[in-house]
Amino acid sequence: MSPRHPAAPRRTRRPAPGWRLGGGPDAVGGEAPGDPPPARLSGSEAGDGKPRHGATGTTEEEPEELTPRQIVAELDKFVIGQAAAKRAVAIALRNRWRRWRIEEDIREEILPNNILLIGPTGVGKTEIARRLARLAQAPFVKVEASKFTEVGYVGRDVESMIRDLLELSVNMVRSERTADVEDEAWDNVDERLLDLLLPAPKREPEREGERPAERASAEEEVQRRYAETREKLRQQLADGKLEKRMVEVDVAVQRTPPLEIFTNQPFFDETESSLQDMLGGLLPPRRKRRKVTVEEARELLFQEEVGKLLDMDKVISEALDRAENTGIVFVDEIDKIVAPTGGGGTGPDISREGVQRDLLPVVEGSNVPTKYGMVKTDHILFLAAGAFHHAKPSDLIPELQGRFPIRVELSTLSEQDFVRILREPENALLKQYQALLGSDGVKLTFADAAIEEVASIATRVNSEMENIGARRLHTVLTTLLEDVLFEVPDSGRKQIDITRDYVLEKLGPVLKSPDLTRYIL
Ligand SMILES: Nc1ncnc2c1ncn2[C@@H]1O[C@H](COP(=O)(O)OP(=O)(O)OP(=O)(O)O)[C@@H](O)[C@H]1O
Ligand SMILES: [Mg+2]
Repeated sequence: MSPRHPAAPRRTRRPAPGWRLGGGPDAVGGEAPGDPPPARLSGSEAGDGKPRHGATGTTEEEPEELTPRQIVAELDKFVIGQAAAKRAVAIALRNRWRRWRIEEDIREEILPNNILLIGPTGVGKTEIARRLARLAQAPFVKVEASKFTEVGYVGRDVESMIRDLLELSVNMVRSERTADVEDEAWDNVDERLLDLLLPAPKREPEREGERPAERASAEEEVQRRYAETREKLRQQLADGKLEKRMVEVDVAVQRTPPLEIFTNQPFFDETESSLQDMLGGLLPPRRKRRKVTVEEARELLFQEEVGKLLDMDKVISEALDRAENTGIVFVDEIDKIVAPTGGGGTGPDISREGVQRDLLPVVEGSNVPTKYGMVKTDHILFLAAGAFHHAKPSDLIPELQGRFPIRVELSTLSEQDFVRILREPENALLKQYQALLGSDGVKLTFADAAIEEVASIATRVNSEMENIGARRLHTVLTTLLEDVLFEVPDSGRKQIDITRDYVLEKLGPVLKSPDLTRYIL
C-alpha cells in the first residue's frame, strides 16, 4: 500500500482467517505431510502434459483452519437454525483440510463427501453455501441446474461451471499476488509519472569550438538541475498536488477479434468467450496514446506495472491447484433436472436426465479443459440443493444419487425462527433498515411486540398463500416500512419507533383482503 497517494487506489491485503493452499515459506518442513503441496497435482497427473510451476504461496502466516465447531459458530452469525446442515458442511470443509495432512497416496483416494441439501424454498440452503464459501476463502461458484435444460443446451455446457470456478480462482490468486507486489508497483508508477511530468533533458548538440571539459560541466549542470526538479516534483506528487495535471500515456488496448458472427448460435455461447480471449491473447496488444490526468494515469500505469511484476504462469498454476483442491461448486435447483415421479419419458424429461448424465463425470472426477489448462475435478466439493417438492432425491438417476452421499434436510422455519432472523444475523433485515435510515440521520427502533407481529404475519401469509420461507420477511418489511422510507428525511423526524400498533395499522388492511395480500406481501 502506498500511504503517499491520497488519491491512489488502495488494495488492502486481506486477512486470512481461512486455510489457503500453497502454505507460506515458513510452513513446516518442505515435504512434511502437513505442508500443502504446491505442485504435486500438476503435470502428468493433471493430464494436460504441461508442467506447472510450483505454486508456492507467499503468505507470511499460515492461517489456522477453523474447526467444525468454529465453522458452525461462524455460520450461526448469519443463518438461524438448520443445525444439521451446518454440521454437515462444517465437516466437509474440515475434511478437505484434514486431507492435506495425510500421506500422499491415501490423500488421492479420499474424495470429498458431496452434500445434498434438501428443504423448502427460502430456509437458508443458498445462504449456508454462500457463507461457507466466504469462510473457506475458496473459489466458489453457484449454478442453477435448471439453466442446463434450456433450449439450445449442449452437453459441454455443464463443464462451464468448472471454467467459471477456475476463472474465479485465477482472479483470487491474482489479486493476492497483486497485494504482494503492489508496493514495488507503486514505486515504479511514481517513477514513470515523474518521467511523464518531466522528460529527461536531451543532450545539447555540440557547439562549435566547445572544449570537452566545458561541455562536461555544462552537461553536469543540466543533470543536476534536472534531478533537483524531479525531486521537487516527487514531493508535490506525494502531496497530491499534481493530480489534475495532464499527461500523455501509452496504454495497451486489448484487441477483440471479430467473432460476433457466431454469437447467435447456442453452441458458441459458452465457448465463444474463451475462444475470444484466446485469440485476443494471440494478437499483439495495440498501444494507444491518451491524454489523461495524473490521477487517471496512475491507475492505468499501476495495472501495467503489476502486470510486469506478476508471474502469470505461477498465478495460473496456483489457481489451478486451488480450484482443484479447495474449489466449491454449488448446484442449486438440482430438483429441477429431475423428472417428476411418475412422469413419462418424453420431451423435456429426457433432456433433464441428459443433464444429470452430463453432470456425472464432472461430479465424479474428470478433466475439464479450460483456457488455462486442464482442471481435475476429483477433489472439488459439490454441494447440491433443491426443494424436492415434486420429485424425491431417489428420482435422480442412481449414479448421480451415489455422488451425493450426504443428505441433509433443512427444516421449515417457525415463527420463533422468524423473530430471530429479523433480529439476530449480522446482516439481519432490521439492522439493514436501521443502517439505511441511519444514513439519513434517523434512528429507527422496533418494539419487541412489533417484531413478533411481523413474524406472525409472515408465518400466516406463508401458510395461507405460498410458503416462501424467510423471503416473506422481506416483502412484509418493505410494505411495512414503505411510508417511513418515503417520508424520511423530509418529515424532519429524527427517531421513528415501530410499535405493534403501527404494524397492525399498516398491514391490517392488506391482510383483510386475500387479493391484496397475494399481490403485495
Ligand atoms: N435460516 C435462516 N437464517 C437466516 N436467514 C435466512 C434463513 N433462511 C433464509 N434466510 C433469508 O432468506 C433468504 C433466502 O434464503 P436462501 O436463499 O438461503 O433460500 P433457499 O433455501 O436457497 O431457497 P430456494 O430453494 O428458493 O433457493 C436469504 O437471503 C436470507 O436472508
Ligand atoms: Mg436457493
